[in-house]
Amino acid sequence: MIKDEVNKLKPSSTLLINEESKKLEKEGKRIFKFGFGQSPFDIPKSITAELKNNSHQNKYLPMQGLLELRKAVAKYTSKKKNYKYKDENVIIGPGTKELMFLLNILFEGDIILPAPSWVSYEPQAILGRNKVHWINTKIENNWFPTADEIEKIITQNKEKNYLLFINSPNNPSGQICKNLKEIALIVKKYKVIVLSDEIYSELSFNKDFKSISEFCPEKTIISTGLSKWCAAGGWRLGHFIIPDNLNEIKIKLSVLASETFSSVSSPIQYAAISAYEKDHSNYINICNNILKSIGEYVYSNLKSNNVIVNKPEGGFYIMPEFLNKNFTSSSEMCKNLLEKTGVALLPGSNFGISKNKMIARLSFTDFNGESFMQQVNKSKDIDFNIISKYAPNIIEGTKRLKEWAESAK
Ligand SMILES: Cc1ncc(COP(=O)(O)O)c(C=O)c1O
Repeated sequence: MIKDEVNKLKPSSTLLINEESKKLEKEGKRIFKFGFGQSPFDIPKSITAELKNNSHQNKYLPMQGLLELRKAVAKYTSKKKNYKYKDENVIIGPGTKELMFLLNILFEGDIILPAPSWVSYEPQAILGRNKVHWINTKIENNWFPTADEIEKIITQNKEKNYLLFINSPNNPSGQICKNLKEIALIVKKYKVIVLSDEIYSELSFNKDFKSISEFCPEKTIISTGLSKWCAAGGWRLGHFIIPDNLNEIKIKLSVLASETFSSVSSPIQYAAISAYEKDHSNYINICNNILKSIGEYVYSNLKSNNVIVNKPEGGFYIMPEFLNKNFTSSSEMCKNLLEKTGVALLPGSNFGISKNKMIARLSFTDFNGESFMQQVNKSKDIDFNIISKYAPNIIEGTKRLKEWAESAK
């Protein structure tokens, strides 16, 4: 009754952790929601105002997306990346997740995933019946693959097509990829295209994010949207930018779009124009100031003889490794951690990391972003007192985690 590919998929342990957290909360336990990654801020007011203004928009829109929105996205991206993208290169979808899924359906070839990778890449590849090659990355390489590691996979069979996923700033590691130029040389040399998942790119704390599209634009699909920087995950609006060279992919993607979601909700698309046409740099800078301060607080408090961790460089996440020999898997460790301390983390095994490694993802978004934002501006120093006041769960959860790591080594 159920197809093999679908049968292979298990319920995500994000859901399991959420269920377990809810159960413990009902029992009266204080839970620190460091498992789920969602922006803690409100959407910029000028953009929600546009949604109200456009609530009457009731027509189906073109399957590739509203022309004015695609123009605004192309203009915004061309300026950022110093490359000429046109409205025809843009396709709007109900979140980038759906567009990635359709890309997996149409793509004929193998998928290269760095471990760690976002949870949905592999299940989508399986549903698209594409073979997955994992590359185990290392902390000393910032948790990104080296060019050599990628080339080693490709040279096993140079005739195949490959789709390489690069997600920077990264979910779950919080790191920014620094060897894009070297990776791009490999991409240019073989039958490889890149899905550059840039959903966290505006949330790069030191503004040092670069896109691989700057080095191999003709072989890169850029994937991004409103979910993270604009705090609008629930609006479900994302886009791909597909260069002229990959036009065949764009045409097929539009066909699949028309046969599945038809077009993204009209009011959302009209409202999104202002997200790309107006200047939101002040809002983004404040978000980055807050996220950077909180990320660095968690980092400097966790890093110890018992915990190996890199300083977060962008996005919402930090990925500690606990030097702990008491557990047989990272999910067993996370379960114990939740029961003992109330801190919910996601096991590294969810992201393609070997389950024997006691690695977990911590999302440092368990605070009210709106009230925090009202207190600070983009350059104000955010000290311990401010974090204690506006992000008390971060302080208490980190403290519990640190104590647990010390006692459980
Ligand atoms: C790395 C990464 N890529 C893509 C997405 C999906 O974003 P969207 O809301 O555009 O579907 C997420 C959301 O959690 C993510 O973390």
